[in-house]
Parts: sequence; structure tokens; C-alpha cells
Amino acid sequence: MKILVTGGLGFIGSHTVVELQNKGFEVIIIDDLSNSSEKVLDGIVAITGKKPLFEKIDLKEKSKVEDFFKRHADVQGVIHFAASKAVGESVEKPLLYYENNIGTLVYLLKELAKKDKASFIFSSSCTVYGQADKMPITEDAPVKTAESPYGNTKQMGEEIITDTCKVVPSLNAIALRYFNPMGAHPSTEIGELPIGVPQNLVPFITQTGMGLRDQLSVFGDDYPTSDGTCVRDYIHVVDLAKAHVVALERLLEAKNKENYEVFNLGTGTGSTVLEVIKSFEKVSGKKLNYKIVPRRTGDITEAYANTEKANNELGWKAESTLDEAMKSAWDWEQKVRA
Ligand code: UD1
Repeated sequence: MKILVTGGLGFIGSHTVVELQNKGFEVIIIDDLSNSSEKVLDGIVAITGKKPLFEKIDLKEKSKVEDFFKRHADVQGVIHFAASKAVGESVEKPLLYYENNIGTLVYLLKELAKKDKASFIFSSSCTVYGQADKMPITEDAPVKTAESPYGNTKQMGEEIITDTCKVVPSLNAIALRYFNPMGAHPSTEIGELPIGVPQNLVPFITQTGMGLRDQLSVFGDDYPTSDGTCVRDYIHVVDLAKAHVVALERLLEAKNKENYEVFNLGTGTGSTVLEVIKSFEKVSGKKLNYKIVPRRTGDITEAYANTEKANNELGWKAESTLDEAMKSAWDWEQKVRA
């Protein structure tokens, strides 16, 4: 069965391609290489022994998208990762984000709507909840006004899929709302490769541990949490990748209850920034150089998932602990810098 993975050479995409191939799916990757490298294919081959098909296509080029689906009429499912994801950059360049994240989604859906049957998995984010009133966050928590154009593209993306599914019964879709993905494949063949200075906590920590960065800035210790630092739900990228395969199988086997569904993907456990640092120090045996600095604009106090819907409906559960995920992130960082 042929599955298209857009952004399949990126961080979460590449881990998902591995899990798909491990399950026997035939994978074809589209990636524009704007934030990834063709070398990731070697890592995928090293793990799975199989090279996925790869086409370098910019999904903003509508005619290329149309042409792709003509040439690959046998694609039965699409997992759509390709998108821009830097919150700060999205504030600076909103139109780039709307074009990249919304334009491309529309072109893909237009093609899928032409098919007799199509399954679509969308990369969404817990950012759609903003600061939720109740923890852990359930899928029916209200969607709040987005803090950034990036966040808005995830909300709008979900709405566009909802509206499309209402009128295209042959299309079945699932939006997966990720909490905070981290870590790397245990083989250290693939992992996260942020370009430039990492914006996210875990790659910043591992790069500081390697001496690439002098010091981690902890953004605020005056939040109403156990130690004053923000709480997030850090999920191992391999667990996250496996959830995509389970979600896709749910659609392919017509086990979905509605033709558009939403699931949280998290562990259900919240960790503070200082707990994440402690985990790094534990698995690496190194002291991390960090200092407390003022809060970062736009950060919410806490976000962790209620995982019951994913556990019960998808039959999926995150298995790795924070320490295991951190160890994989650290092993990967050491390998990349070796
Ligand atoms: C951020 C985005 C979120 C997006 C996700 C994608 C914001 C407000 N949210 O999530 O919309 O889906 O990235 O990856 O930007 N921290 C530090 N020092 C650092 C970096 C982070 O203390 O150098 C803290 C942050 O304050 C936060 C936690 O670490 O409490 C996690 O931060 P981060 O990895 O950036 O993820 P989110 O902010 O949760």
C-alpha cells in the first residue's frame, strides 16, 4: 500500500517513515529540502534496509502537486508534515507561513477530494489550545485565539479539513495535536537537526551540553508551577511516529467513527523546565550551564495532554519516559557532532 509522506525528511516525518516501512507500507516522500537534507534517506535505509521513493517537490507549486497525483494514482494515504514551524519567524513573515502551511494543504486536499477514497493525517499542535483552563487538556477544550501566525495556520488547517470532510465523504482525516516532541531514533541514524540556533528547549540543552552553546536561558521561574518554570508534555518522537501509523491504519481499515477526528498526542505527564534539565544531567552525567532569565513573550504556564481518547480510541500509548527520550536526544547530539 502506497503512502505519501510530505516533509518526510524532517524530524517527525523521518521517524514516521521508518515506522511505516517497519510495518510494510510502501512510502513515497515529498520534501522541498528547505529545512532538511537528502542524507536523511541514508539514515532511513540504515534502520529499515529499504529506501523510500523520494521526490523533491515544493508543494506551493500547484501544477507539480497535480502532476504528482497523476503519476501516483495508487497513493491511498497521505501524512502531511511539510510546513514551516518557527513561531518567531511566523510573526515576522506571516504571509510566508500562510502560503507555506495553508496553500499547500489546500492543494493536497483538492487532489485527495478527486479520489474514490483517501486517508489524510494532519500534523497539528497543542498550540491550538493556548493556555487551556483545565489540565490535563482534553480534545474538547476550546480552541483559543492563536498567539502567532504559525499557531493560526494549525487552527485554520484543522478548520479547512473539517469543512472539506463535511462535503467530501470519500475523504477521511485525522488531525494529531502534538505536545512537545523530542528525542531521536535509538539507532542514532536519524534525529532532530535544527538549522541555526535552536528555539526549542531540548536541542538547546543538548547543544549546550556539547559546548556548542555557552549557556541555556531558562525563560522565567516565577510561574505558578511546582518550581516556578513552565510545564510541558515531552513525548519521544518514536512514540509520536508510531501514533501516526496507528492513526493511518484506523482510516485505512475504516475504524474511524467520523470522517474527521482529532487526537492529542502526549504522554499525559507534565515536566517543568528544571525537571528536563535534571533529566539531561542524569542521563549525560554532565552539569548543564544555565541561568534564569525573564519570561519569553507568548509562553503559556502549562500544557499537558489528557491521553484517554488516544489510548482508548487509537489503542496507542506513549511508552518512553522523559529520561529515555532525553538519552536518545543526547546520544544523537553526540553522534552528530562526532
Ligand atoms: C513551541 C511553540 C509551539 C510550537 C512548538 C513547536 C511557543 C510559545 N510555542 O512550543 O507553538 O508548536 O514550539 O516546536 O513558542 N525554554 C527555555 N529556554 C529555551 C527554550 C525553551 O526555558 O531556550 C522553555 C520554554 O519557556 C518552555 C519550554 O522550555 O517553557 C519548552 O519550549 P519550546 O521547546 O520552545 O516549546 P513550546 O514553547 O512548548
